Amino acid sequence: MMKLTVIPGDGIGPEIMAQVVRVLKHVHAPFEYEEHQAGEVALNSLGELLPQTTIDSINKTKLAIKGPTTTPVGGGHKSINVTMRQKFDLYANVRPVRSLPGVQCVCSDVDLTIVRENTEDLYAGIERMVDEDTAESIKRITRKGSERIARYAYDLAQKTGKPRMAIVHKANIMKLSDGLFLKVAQEVGWQYPEITTKDVIVDNACMQLVTKPQQFDVIVTENLYGDILSDLCAGLVGGLGVVPGANIGANHAIFEAVHGSAPDIAGQNKANPTALLQSAVMMLQHVGENAKADAIMKALIAALSDVNARTGDLGGKGTTVSFTDAIIQRLGH
Ligand code: NAI
Ligand code: MG
Repeated sequence: MMKLTVIPGDGIGPEIMAQVVRVLKHVHAPFEYEEHQAGEVALNSLGELLPQTTIDSINKTKLAIKGPTTTPVGGGHKSINVTMRQKFDLYANVRPVRSLPGVQCVCSDVDLTIVRENTEDLYAGIERMVDEDTAESIKRITRKGSERIARYAYDLAQKTGKPRMAIVHKANIMKLSDGLFLKVAQEVGWQYPEITTKDVIVDNACMQLVTKPQQFDVIVTENLYGDILSDLCAGLVGGLGVVPGANIGANHAIFEAVHGSAPDIAGQNKANPTALLQSAVMMLQHVGENAKADAIMKALIAALSDVNARTGDLGGKGTTVSFTDAIIQRLGH
């Protein structure tokens, strides 16, 4: 058994997390669940957005599943996600993007994964005012940072049997920084002869993703491009509401839905657990439980195809709980 930190979060978080844990228990996922709080609920009950007890738990379990959290506006609170990314050095942001039945989308047959470097690039926060009228941000790219993200992406491609890697960059303009990223990623690629690598300049990548997304299996890219491409790809398959995500480091991994806490529908048994359940599927794959991951994904797809089962946001007649019932029914015993 592995210990797993469960962070229900705010708004619809506790409702969808309860259903996801129900599915995990149904397939006998090898977890011992440790529930901890983060977000507004933690601020109100424990006085902190991200309490030390929650951090201690993740330090110990090294594995967490997280519901959406509300970051209060004002009060100078630091984003929970940014804090966790820094604390646990979660260098890989992984977002699988796949078209699902019952979900209105721009393109069908999309099944790709974006692997975004999560610690460097223009997001490292190295900024200064040169004088009153001039500001600059430093784009920092290192061999170490590029190598570990490329290795993560190629290992993922290999593990999941995805034969095509696209390295997305702008090395034609930023010859040194993006040039280094591209060179190091290509060098890592040489060690994976069964995977074909192409490099794609980021603006062309946007066009290709919108017109022919089926040509991509795994995309590895820098922080800024990855941020933008991740949302673009989510848009291709029906929006942020249905896609999962993971933040992964050398020693810790945190899986979460990409959507927010949806206060407008919280407590009404309306929320769609699809994104969080897919995050749980990613987590099962991460710990090597591929058969359980596949079984859940298959049952989820079958339930989504049924208008009586799927939730209202997808034009269905189901609720959070009845949709989960439908998934569990399709999982069998
Ligand atoms: P949101 O994603 O919570 O909601 C946007 C719209 O999508 C709402 O109409 C909502 O009802 C709907 N929606 C979202 N998830 C859904 C689900 N699973 N099933 C059915 N409908 C769903 O975004 P919003 O309103 O901008 O943010 C609300 C709060 O969430 C804010 O406090 C924000 O800070 C937080 N947030 C947290 C994130 C996280 O923890 N990773 C990510 C994004 C926002
Ligand atoms: Mg973003």
